[in-house]
Formats: sequence, C-alpha cells, structure tokens
Amino acid sequence: MRDLVFHELGLAPRWKLRGAAVATRSAPATAGIEEVSQMDWDALRQAVASCTACPLYATRTQGVLGVGDIHADWLFVGEAPGAEEDAQGEPFVGAAGKLLDAMLAAIRLKRGDNVYIANVLKSRPPGNRNPKPEEIAACLPYLVRQVQLIQPRLIVALGRFAAHSLLNTDASISSLRGQVHHYHGIPLIVTYHPAYLLRNLADKARAWEDLCLALNTLNNPIPEGENNA
Ligand code: URA
Repeated sequence: MRDLVFHELGLAPRWKLRGAAVATRSAPATAGIEEVSQMDWDALRQAVASCTACPLYATRTQGVLGVGDIHADWLFVGEAPGAEEDAQGEPFVGAAGKLLDAMLAAIRLKRGDNVYIANVLKSRPPGNRNPKPEEIAACLPYLVRQVQLIQPRLIVALGRFAAHSLLNTDASISSLRGQVHHYHGIPLIVTYHPAYLLRNLADKARAWEDLCLALNTLNNPIPEGENNA
C-alpha cells in the first residue's frame, strides 16, 4: 500500500521511511480578538460559520474551520479553502488534499488520526486568488486559537502563506525549509504547499526531506534556540 502511495506521488524509491458545519451566512456578529482567544471548539466553530470579519464571507459557501483530532500531535496548516473545500466544509479535499493525504501516509499518518488540518483563511478567496494581508489579519485569531486548543507537538506550515503568517516573516520557502522554527515554543517545519508540488514535481523530493525532518523533530525535539531558527 505504501509503495502504491509512493508510486502515486512519483517518489519511489526515494520516499522510503528508514526503519520503518454548515454556515449561517447571515449572522452579522464578528468576534473580537480577545473573545476568540477565550473560545472553546463549539464557540470557534460557530464564530467561523458566522464570521463577517472580512469581505470573503459574502462569496463563500461556508467557513471551513479545520478537520481532525483536536488532541493531535501534528498540526498541518495550509492556505485557504478552494472550491471543493468551500463546498464540503473540510480542508484539503480536492487534488491538493489527495497529495496531502499521500504525504501523510508516507510518514504513516492519517487525516484525523493524531493529525489536525487547518488553513490560515477559513473562507475561500474567489477564484482561488491569493489571500490578502487584511484577510489574513482578520482570520489569524482563529488559527491562533486552534493552536492554543490543540497544543500540537509539531506544526507543518504548507506553503508561504502558512509559513509567513505563523513565523511573521516574508522570507522565501526555500530559505525557510530545512530548519526547525518555533511558533510559541512549538517546533514548526516549513514545506511546499501540495498544490505547488502538483505543478513542480521535482520539489517532491525536497518535501519528503521536510517530512523526514518533521518526523525526526517530533521524535527528538530540539529546545528553541538550540541549533535552529
Ligand atoms: N489548499 C489549501 O491551502 N487549503 C485547502 O484546504 C485546500 C487547498
């Protein structure tokens, strides 16, 4: 099965493990940042479903909070829902999601099983355009609260919007990957976004290296400030 997955990824034989809610769009209220920081999961889900903090609420079908194990060790953070995610209310269910699932399987992880998947933006930008800074600023408190509630042991930032938002930098992905960063003391690994990998097959090998680094970091955490970014 894993070989099949590797084959699908176009990564065999290199990718081998060693040792191995429907929105109520009309609700007008937008929670303040302090309020979001106190929310439990139910409140967060409702707040995202009824959020009007940025204009994206007008064009989305529904807010997409995230999916998975709320006690997960692993938190994967993408960019924003696309058309399929907007329709289904779950992150990464389209083509990029299939690749993400294969990437998870390559390190013996499964969506929902010790893994939580979220996006920086909870609402779909029309036409899948890039998120705007003001949209990210309006939406980020939800992700911050998700991290606080989940308390993952490791975060994987998928692509530049996740990396830039969580690390407060505008450095390139190629300069950010390959090292262990920290988000509020939680180790954070940067890798390519699966949608990018679908278009840039040559970088899949690098993404595999990033996943190995993530796995190794989770198993042997390096304290912040020691030999990392
Ligand atoms: N791309 C993302 O960044 N997130 C999704 O949920 C789907 C595609």
